[in-house]
Amino acid sequence: MIITIDGPAGSGKSTAARKLAAHLEIPYLDTGAMYRAIAHLALEKGIAIDDHPGLVRLAKDADLWLDCGPTHTRVKANGHDISEAIRSMAVSQVTSPIARIPDIREILVGKQRAIGRKLGSFVTEGRDQGSVVFKDLADVRFVVDADLEKRAQRRYQELIADGEDVSLEEVRENLSTRDGNDCKQWAPLLEPGQSIKIDTTNMTLAEVVDCLEGHVRESVGA
Ligand code: DC
Repeated sequence: MIITIDGPAGSGKSTAARKLAAHLEIPYLDTGAMYRAIAHLALEKGIAIDDHPGLVRLAKDADLWLDCGPTHTRVKANGHDISEAIRSMAVSQVTSPIARIPDIREILVGKQRAIGRKLGSFVTEGRDQGSVVFKDLADVRFVVDADLEKRAQRRYQELIADGEDVSLEEVRENLSTRDGNDCKQWAPLLEPGQSIKIDTTNMTLAEVVDCLEGHVRESVGA
């Protein structure tokens, strides 16, 4: 069974996807972590974000390893554990422009499909999982969203909990820029009827997970 959760940054999809996977006892594929890993490597190696050939070479050569356990995502690049490093604000800021480079997307989409084939059943989230990457394979497709203010507050709390020194305004600005950058160009929205849409603005995490799980169980008749 393949369950896709698409939606913008900060919509609550990552945490909800991870919990849903844990409830269903299947792996969780965090595709944002893969784009973050490339961004982290680019910062580490001093490759400029406008050096597209350099970034594409980096992505091609990167030996990415993901542990898709339902309760955690561990990421290694070229043998080094970068699970924590990829969550920093510095990495968040450069991930979006890097994720817009078509050749980088092609490389990572290929890696996501290869991981998916190995996993068999899994929950995956990103912006393009139901609409592009697992378009023809997904059994249940969700689109989750929330208003910008709520998404900024959620992301801000996460960053503060991780010890980052950021303001709510910076996070709001970053999300709003990413919305503009990430949207439309490469993640076509699913047509009505192709997905189950959930607005999480006024929902708690537990309510979101319950709602997702209810739909999944209904779809598979469990
Ligand atoms: O969900 P996240 O914040 O970890 O995503 C990090 C960045 O990667 C964000 O700018 C969106 C981008 N991304 C993408 O382009 N395609 C995906 N499938 C997942 C994330």
